[in-house]
Amino acid sequence: MKIAILGTGVVGHTVGSKLAQLGHEVRMGSRSSKNEKALKFVKDNEKHRASAGTFEDAAQFCELAFNCTKGSSSLAAMRLCGEEPLQGKILIDLANPLDEKGNIFTPRDDSLGEQIQRELPSTKVVKTLNTVNCSVMIDAAKVPGDHDLFICGNEQAAKDKVSGWLREWFGWKSLIDLGDITGARASESYLALWIRLWNVTKSPNFNVKIVRGS
Ligand SMILES: NC(=O)c1ccc[n+]([C@@H]2O[C@H](COP(=O)([O-])OP(=O)(O)OC[C@H]3O[C@@H](n4cnc5c(N)ncnc54)[C@H](OP(=O)(O)O)[C@@H]3O)[C@@H](O)[C@H]2O)c1
Repeated sequence: MKIAILGTGVVGHTVGSKLAQLGHEVRMGSRSSKNEKALKFVKDNEKHRASAGTFEDAAQFCELAFNCTKGSSSLAAMRLCGEEPLQGKILIDLANPLDEKGNIFTPRDDSLGEQIQRELPSTKVVKTLNTVNCSVMIDAAKVPGDHDLFICGNEQAAKDKVSGWLREWFGWKSLIDLGDITGARASESYLALWIRLWNVTKSPNFNVKIVRGS
């Protein structure tokens, strides 16, 4: 599949490399087609089908996109992609709305996932993966035992496709559907707890399991 990785940070590199290793054709997008981190991504994946371009190039090229940009700049990055190149496509949004101090900057009655969906009304935004570290995103087994990932988005068919890909590509067996894209308010708010847990456990490779009573 032709996949756009929108973002050149550690998450884009990690997710993009895994997808390239799985045989996908991956293009990393950024503000500049000569971005050094994107060119390093291409070099690191020279045995695979990896390329780099602008946000718009990558959006135009892909069948599926991952938003791996800084939360406070995600809307700006999506504007650089443009609405038309992502029209009708699935965008997996794994960004978190964290400011420089690690605080959530969206109001309680909104979320970054919803803001991106409003910015790209003809794109199928599916929010998921944002509640785990990137090394866990691409390999659920990095955390032993059963544990859960959250997913939300307005279109059931898009969520079903993404759930299948997450299982096949990254080994995610248990996804909890939080409903429409407003579910992003919940999964993004969880970051406050995630950061605190990271501070006290000293390792980012953990996750949660929802245990149900009768
Ligand atoms: N670290 C994790 O394990 C983890 C886990 C869950 C979720 N996340 C989320 O994943 C996302 C990516 O994190 P990261 O640490 O890999 O990368 P990051 O440093 O948060 O973001 C890097 C990307 O943001 C873009 N960007 C920065 N300022 C911009 C602007 N003014 N306009 C347009 N684009 C701009 C950069 O563009 P250029 O390429 O042009 O420089 C770059 O592609 C974040 O939203 C983070 O919260 C991270």
